[in-house]
Amino acid sequence: MEEKIEALKQQAREAVASAAKNLSELDDVRVKFLGKKGEFTAILRGLGAVAKEERPKIGAIVNAAKAEVEALIQQKNEELKARAMADRLESEKIDVTLPGRRATAGHLHPLTQTLDRIKDIFFRMGFSVEEGPEIEKDYYNFEALNLPKDHPARDMQDSFYITEDILMRSQTSPVQARTMEKNPPNAPIRMIAPGRVYRRDEYDATHSPMFTQVEGLVIDEGISFADLKGTLELFLQQMFGEEVGVRFRPSFFPFTEPSAEVDISCVMCHGKGCRVCKGTGWLEILGSGMVHPNVLRMSGYDPKKVSGFAFGMGVERIAMLSYGIDDLRLFYDNDMRFLRQF
Ligand code: DAH
Repeated sequence: MEEKIEALKQQAREAVASAAKNLSELDDVRVKFLGKKGEFTAILRGLGAVAKEERPKIGAIVNAAKAEVEALIQQKNEELKARAMADRLESEKIDVTLPGRRATAGHLHPLTQTLDRIKDIFFRMGFSVEEGPEIEKDYYNFEALNLPKDHPARDMQDSFYITEDILMRSQTSPVQARTMEKNPPNAPIRMIAPGRVYRRDEYDATHSPMFTQVEGLVIDEGISFADLKGTLELFLQQMFGEEVGVRFRPSFFPFTEPSAEVDISCVMCHGKGCRVCKGTGWLEILGSGMVHPNVLRMSGYDPKKVSGFAFGMGVERIAMLSYGIDDLRLFYDNDMRFLRQF
């Protein structure tokens, strides 16, 4: 009996030492020898067949052997766990010297960048920013700007009507009247009003039914055409460079008198004449003029006390000229190959 136990112990020792290569194999060994149906349990169960006086002795030997095997298994268990951890650490090792994954950040749209530059120049001259709705009343879009119903100049700005009296604004000029209205009568104004405008128009390289304008309005006592010229010249020099040529041409807008269109020397050929300036050496860049007395009067300002000038420009056109972009549709296509260049 004792030899049998000794042999079993030897078997278990070998099994633990060589057979158990991982935790689950080790568990199989544990079940085989120490489990409820295991070898040692079987011997304990069979003690009934042993002579009575021998029983305590044999029982003690079995239990000692069991304890020994248990200790071996426990030790092996720890070894295997440690090895598994070491393997994992080895296989999951990360190379902290590898370059990280960069978070890709976008950037401002070229139109927004251009608008920011325009704003920045006017901020430095003390202008503030005003906003008006894109869905506008006929009154502000036309009537308050000295364009009564049936005025022929309305035809140049055919827009999208929502009702007889409400339309998508065709220009940012309505913000002139809105700003005057919300100020006390004759209070000085120095503002720009950037925003989207809408017109019934083609969609091609130079036209779009939606585009962006910046309006400007200055009102105070004694504002003259010299202020208009000085302000716009300074703006254009800051925008296109000190050496840019600026010229004023007489023009007509219903809301200004006198009115002037402002040209800059061609940014492509510097005045020599090319395809972009159609051989003239000049590019039309904005509309302007002295605020018409009717416009002042309709919005509660007294043309005998104050005077002012106004101007309006297209942001797409300015962006195209500053960056040398030849198709306006590129601004709206969201093609990353285009946008990434700015
Ligand atoms: N609103 C005009 C347009 O869209 C541009 C303009 C011209 C605005 C002269 C003005 C101005 O304020 O004085 O064509």
